[in-house]
Amino acid sequence: MGKTLEIDQLRTMYLRFFEQRGHAIIPGASLLPDGDPSVLFTTAGMHPLVPYLRGQPHAAGRRLANVQKCIRTSDIDLVGDRTHLTFFEMLGNWSLDDYGKEQSIRWSHELLTSLEWLAIPDERLWVSVFAGDGELPRDEQAARTWLELGVAPERIVYLGMEDNFWAAGTEGPCGPDTEIFYDTTGEPCGAPRCAPGLCNCRRFVEIWNNVFMSYERSAGALHELRRHNIDTGMGLERVAAVLCDAGSVYEVQGLRAIAEHLLSDLGKRHDELSERELRALRICIDHLRTAVFILGDPNGPEPANTGAGYVLRRLIRRAVRYCRILALEPSAWEAGASVVVEHYASAYPELQLRRARILESLREERERFERTLDRGSRLLAQLLERNAGTERLSGAEAFRLYDTYGFPLELTVEMAGEHGVEVDVTAFERCFAEHRERSRSIAAKSGLADDSRQSVRYHTATHLLHAALRAVLGAHVEQRGSNISADRLRFDFSHGGALTSEERSAVEAWVQQAIDRDLPVYREVSTSEAAKARGATGLFDDRYDGEVSVYGIGDLSLEICAGPHVERTSELGRFRIVKEQSCGAGMRRIRALLSPT
Ligand code: ALA
Repeated sequence: MGKTLEIDQLRTMYLRFFEQRGHAIIPGASLLPDGDPSVLFTTAGMHPLVPYLRGQPHAAGRRLANVQKCIRTSDIDLVGDRTHLTFFEMLGNWSLDDYGKEQSIRWSHELLTSLEWLAIPDERLWVSVFAGDGELPRDEQAARTWLELGVAPERIVYLGMEDNFWAAGTEGPCGPDTEIFYDTTGEPCGAPRCAPGLCNCRRFVEIWNNVFMSYERSAGALHELRRHNIDTGMGLERVAAVLCDAGSVYEVQGLRAIAEHLLSDLGKRHDELSERELRALRICIDHLRTAVFILGDPNGPEPANTGAGYVLRRLIRRAVRYCRILALEPSAWEAGASVVVEHYASAYPELQLRRARILESLREERERFERTLDRGSRLLAQLLERNAGTERLSGAEAFRLYDTYGFPLELTVEMAGEHGVEVDVTAFERCFAEHRERSRSIAAKSGLADDSRQSVRYHTATHLLHAALRAVLGAHVEQRGSNISADRLRFDFSHGGALTSEERSAVEAWVQQAIDRDLPVYREVSTSEAAKARGATGLFDDRYDGEVSVYGIGDLSLEICAGPHVERTSELGRFRIVKEQSCGAGMRRIRALLSPT
């Protein structure tokens, strides 16, 4: 409890408070960190500020504040409870070797409790401070400051490295922190010590973290920085929920609007949902909001099989699966994206700018997954019917559904369970491991050195090059060898003589045009014979029960291949042949490059 403020008001109030105290308000950064391959997403407001925490002067000065959009997926399994979200907004203020610990704590306390600001009653606040560890001293100064501000000694808890030493990752700026908690009930739960970090009951919600970043960790060792930085982060949705005494973060502006949209589609009220349905609803809300923010980011990827695009794909697919629990049409879920854009566009204009792209990508990915699910469900139903009377579905059958039709194991387990049939999950895992080995050896034959994003791009480019050579030079062109690394492709093929410069340019232009058309790359499973009959090229591996994996690129290329490939040709960027030479009688070799992503 405190002042009831909507999210928009809270953002403004926070920034005004720190602006009045000499902080420059700086813009938030992209959700996809530029030039930092160690993380997929920005996970905290300090992330884009690491160079300045290390000593580089910041153009806006030494006191900074902002609102930063963040994504953390490490707690994805907790999403659906009252407080965890994969996307959240972090309110942050920083001292770059300017004011110190005591000042930072005093300002946090003032903003939270002063009647002029958030007016949270003092007795609702609990704090934790660093208990010390080995050489690292116990933080008596933080504890003393809290005591001076009137926090009762029993509401100050000392905790160790695990809880009260904060770092963004295994390397970089870090330090002890003091965390501020809101007491949602005011009542002990009955455990011997009901306090933050000591009790697992859901009484306390962490709302703000003040980190005293005076260390740097490198190669596992801590070094004291000569600078004394402060890095704070307050969870916007959590504070808004606390202020209006809401049962969960899903009741605050923005999230509430998405909930209302989905519930109205379901024709249900909140209080009519079972606990399982409520969790599913929250997951659908959370994942929708996160997907919209990823797709709406200036650096946002499309759904893909690697990197941040893979996280996006998983969030969309996970939400579509949870729609089933709610009996909500996935298309209605996806339509909620407009609500997200509408509610956040004033604070994040990039969403409005990319609205069409957001809606389109969500729809495409949802449809793609629904096709997978439909096909898989039909096959599973047939399988269960054929095996009626048995109580167990073999791991090999479950694996075939997964591998050939992309049908998730959890769904096989769930649907089989509805028919009283158990799935042999251990055998499924064995099949999975065996198949991975087999794919590796096929991948080795097709010349793919690894499945890094760059290599995968070169792999798809190789298919296009192969098709281009056949289109430009003739159908006598056959693959003789291929070698792909993360930096280039090398392709050997049968052809009588050197390419003329016109032929070389034509091949290059053919590939580039295919890339620019942004064609989908799709995978099918077929029999060797059927694939050959359709004119597929590539290496045939007949060991796999006659079934082969075939990759198609639009209507331009069809190859027997184990993958992996990119999703769409536009991911390849610019294509350039750098060398064309002989590599034996009647054989030519091409080396080609793609622009980096
Ligand atoms: N960087 C700190 C956190 O994310 C403030 O908790």
